[in-house]
Amino acid sequence: MKIQSAKGTRDFYPQVMAVRNYIVDGWKAASLRSGFEEYDGPIFEFLKMYQIKSGDEIASQLFSFTDRGGRNFAIRPEITPTLARMVNQQINALPRPIKWFSLPRLCRAERPQKGRLREFFQWNVDIIGADDILADAEVIFTAIDYLHSAGLGPDDIVVKISSRKMLSAILETIGIGPDKLDAVYAVLDKKPKLPDDTFQKMIAEQITDPAMRRRVIELMSVEAIDAIGDIVALDAAAKAAVDELRELFETLELMGIVDFVKFDIGIVRGLAYYTGVVYEIYDRRSSLRAICGGGRYNNLLKDFGGPSVPATGFGMGDAVLEILLRQKGLLTDEMLSTRNIEYFIAIAGDEFKPRAVQLTTQLRLKGLAADFSYKSTSLKKQLKAAQTANAKYTIILGSELTENNQLVVKDMATGNQEEITVEAFLKKYES
Ligand code: HAM
Repeated sequence: MKIQSAKGTRDFYPQVMAVRNYIVDGWKAASLRSGFEEYDGPIFEFLKMYQIKSGDEIASQLFSFTDRGGRNFAIRPEITPTLARMVNQQINALPRPIKWFSLPRLCRAERPQKGRLREFFQWNVDIIGADDILADAEVIFTAIDYLHSAGLGPDDIVVKISSRKMLSAILETIGIGPDKLDAVYAVLDKKPKLPDDTFQKMIAEQITDPAMRRRVIELMSVEAIDAIGDIVALDAAAKAAVDELRELFETLELMGIVDFVKFDIGIVRGLAYYTGVVYEIYDRRSSLRAICGGGRYNNLLKDFGGPSVPATGFGMGDAVLEILLRQKGLLTDEMLSTRNIEYFIAIAGDEFKPRAVQLTTQLRLKGLAADFSYKSTSLKKQLKAAQTANAKYTIILGSELTENNQLVVKDMATGNQEEITVEAFLKKYES
């Protein structure tokens, strides 16, 4: 019987693993540059944790199971609920603001498609305990800082930003009650992915009054913050949310990343817990799904039984990002090596094999990366193997060793060869 891998999962062969490490290392470096600390949680949690506040979409995509004691669990589809749970548990001991990042492996039972898998990695950056637009700006900055360091510029990517606080205030002015908001958000979030007639049908199910529906659709086509007032009279809550958005754009300008960002009222987000600024990062041509999504979620800790502590953050997946980096020529297999050997030990005949094993292990014990050939193939083939291992130097054991106890050390970049006695060579690495 041939066993196959599960749909939507990936096998990380060394070359694929090198890509994952390249991305994850970049994420980690950008997090540390902005002063975030790393955390992680368990890969499964109680099922109900994801049913409380993540929203119907994620809840319908859970991989869940029941243990022998009849308890219901789910593999994590996101780490934000875990973060809220963990912070709540130690809320009085943790100095605020809490600036944490994580690199979890997540699972969602989505229909696998380009950039959407059933198992993926997601960079999370969150600030908890700061109800300041500066915190939203800082997490957005951290995302852009990484993407910029990977080689993507404002012509390649865009952060589309809006505000749930603003949208909820306006929708209420239009006459949509607070109990209807979550369902309306879910439809508006899907709008760009749906054929127009499907969208019209879905929105009609949520907003039955045609005049009200027309105003909402008109509102969703607004392109600039200033134009919103032409469609609806802004009440105090909506005005405050608009002012907050303006302040965010000013802060992003101050941070030098305003070319990367754009107001887009169509950004609503699929998850139920967002309460303020929301955003998604896309490739400029919008030919791919979102690279990143996030926003402010000031009620989640409270909803999980903790105190009322504000929070903001984002998640960036590895799958769409890899597609985009490859499309832009910023990620090629040639760029990444799976091995990084300092010394490759080649032999000019089988009689040198014991010395090759001895020298290799001596070097390893001194903390150097070293490797040798199992077979005494031609020197040419061994040099090729050294190149494949990305070796800086190849040491050749041959007649020089028998005659003068000397090693031939070949610099693989320049091709220069040097002869040196075994003692003198090893002495270099004496501590
Ligand atoms: P999300 O929008 O569900 O947000 O996911 C964020 C990003 O994760 C997406 O933009 C995408 O890059 C990646 N992603 C999501 N689903 C998949 C999938 N099936 N395959 C590959 N990549 C995927 C959240 O998860 C929030 N918890 C983010 C957050 C953190 N909000 C505040 N803090």
